[in-house]
Amino acid sequence: MTDVQELLLSRIRDVADYPEPGVMFKDITPLLADPAAFTVLTDSLAQVAERTGATKVVGLEARGFILGAPVAVRAGLGFIPVRKAGKLPGATLSQAYDLEYGSAEIEVHAEDLGAEDRILVVDDVLATGGTAEASIQLIRRAGAEVAGLAVLMELGFLGGRDRLAPALAGAPLEALLTI
Ligand code: PRP
Ligand code: MG
Repeated sequence: MTDVQELLLSRIRDVADYPEPGVMFKDITPLLADPAAFTVLTDSLAQVAERTGATKVVGLEARGFILGAPVAVRAGLGFIPVRKAGKLPGATLSQAYDLEYGSAEIEVHAEDLGAEDRILVVDDVLATGGTAEASIQLIRRAGAEVAGLAVLMELGFLGGRDRLAPALAGAPLEALLTI
């Protein structure tokens, strides 16, 4: 493990049985509260944006906003929010996706994405991959190109990487930590 990975991992808190029994929640608030760790995280994800030739950063509500916005600024790129349904005032594209129980829907302002854009999607956690998959579908439906997906941590045992492979279609999935 690299020094960067050790620093990041040391600032993620495991919370047992949250939000429900049997789930180990990965709490990133200690990392956000540590300016050195948050800076390292931002710089690492901004390097992914640069490596992948992204022209814009999409952040996934809510925790992907906290990470994605400073990454966009650091990389000198625009930031586009993908929000949970019903929060954006303009004309939107929507994408539904399945949760363990029920379904959810995310939206983006249609005018924010176009054929000239290469998008890096940023989020905190890749778990089952459902949220990221829906965001990639939204980006493609808007006519933009997917430069890649960058996350702080991937929960490898949930198989999100395999699920996302068809949607990513060769675009890179970069996880700073795999748990
Ligand atoms: C969490 C996490 C990821 C997503 C990963 O978001 O922040 O966005 O789940 O899960 P998946 O890979 O199985 O889709 P969630 O919507 O639960 O909460 P948030 O609004 O705090 O980001
Ligand atoms: Mg989230």
